[in-house]
Amino acid sequence: MTNPFFITGIIPEPYFCDREKETQQLVRVIENKAHILLTSARRMGKTQLIYHLYEQPAIKMAYHTFYVDIFPTTSLHEMVLFLSKEIYSKIVPKGKKALKFFLNTIKSLTGSLGYDPVTGTPSFDVKLGDIQNPELTLQEIFAYLEAADKPCIFSIDEFQQITHYPEKNVEALLRTYIQRMNNCLFIFAGSNRHILENMFNSSARPFYNSTEQFHLERISKEVYTDFAIQRIHDEDKAITPEAVSLAYDMFEGHTYYVHHILHNAFANANPQKTMEEEDIRKALDEILETRGRSFANTMNKLNFKQKETLVAIAKEGKARGVTSVAFVKKHALKSASSVQYAITTLLEDQLLTYEDDGKQKIYSVADRFFGYWLVKNY
Ligand SMILES: Nc1ncnc2c1ncn2[C@@H]1O[C@H](COP(=O)(O)OP(=O)(O)O)[C@@H](O)[C@H]1O
Ligand SMILES: [Mg+2]
Repeated sequence: MTNPFFITGIIPEPYFCDREKETQQLVRVIENKAHILLTSARRMGKTQLIYHLYEQPAIKMAYHTFYVDIFPTTSLHEMVLFLSKEIYSKIVPKGKKALKFFLNTIKSLTGSLGYDPVTGTPSFDVKLGDIQNPELTLQEIFAYLEAADKPCIFSIDEFQQITHYPEKNVEALLRTYIQRMNNCLFIFAGSNRHILENMFNSSARPFYNSTEQFHLERISKEVYTDFAIQRIHDEDKAITPEAVSLAYDMFEGHTYYVHHILHNAFANANPQKTMEEEDIRKALDEILETRGRSFANTMNKLNFKQKETLVAIAKEGKARGVTSVAFVKKHALKSASSVQYAITTLLEDQLLTYEDDGKQKIYSVADRFFGYWLVKNY
């Protein structure tokens, strides 16, 4: 039996839910040779959508596809390492000739790349210190993509990271190279909508007006409910529509969280009995229990003002007017300025997130499970 709710790895058909319209739109933009900016809240499904796009016959046959997540990187050196490693891993299965062509193009790394002399198998042993001139290596990587025998699509996920690199000219540098390329389209993706939209929509910035933009929303409740009922049915179990509806509403359709609850509920389900709302509540309790230790550790690292601010926001769910007298008073906080200060650091640590409704910022706890845990324990 397969648990149809995948919470890690690449999701195979038929366990990938919906995104039909979005996939078609992306294919069309690619066919029109435009670069793409894809944003959404964390864990809404950007990365999965990119993998799904790569599996479409129109894309799979016609393009070489690459994907890197640069979230862990804090310098251009690391980004260059990630890009070259990704290309290398896609080239190796294609055989020696392809690899040789790659090695001949990425000359600045040739000393560190190649065949293991003992086993004869290809090895990628580039260390950060080997990348002495990241700009040069980057230029070579792009030259390689330009010369590839098919057009390429390169997705760079969590692209907002480049704004934290110490090198000052990274945006301009990338933009300059990318502008000159004819054989490679880029998908820039990321969760920090604010940083990314600034980067791509301000006329003073290098990437201004260089992409078609998509903001990925939640999957609709009807579509998700049909999907969940059908997938569970296919595994000879059953669930009531009310139970799926509860899971969806608990997290406002935020894909990963809804999916995770159903994953656990399915794993615990008794095949003789239809899953009900009670099973959904139990699945949530179980997840909060499992993650409790790590949530407690997170709380441990915060100071008192950060904690009280985080808890106040968790209790509101969606917190508006956080620096108003009413909010400060309701949650017995010290002052508007201390709340503001705490929020700044909580945002930096990605414990909080916000939406902007045009008038004000609406804050919420970034990890929805953590939000529930805080409400339960404080
Ligand atoms: N279309 C989908 N079908 C099924 N599960 C999905 C889908 N999109 C997202 N998920 C679930 O949500 C999780 C997070 O998705 P991911 O693409 O990593 O989000 P993001 O890149 O936006 O942070 C996945 O691991 C999977 O459990
Ligand atoms: Mg992602």
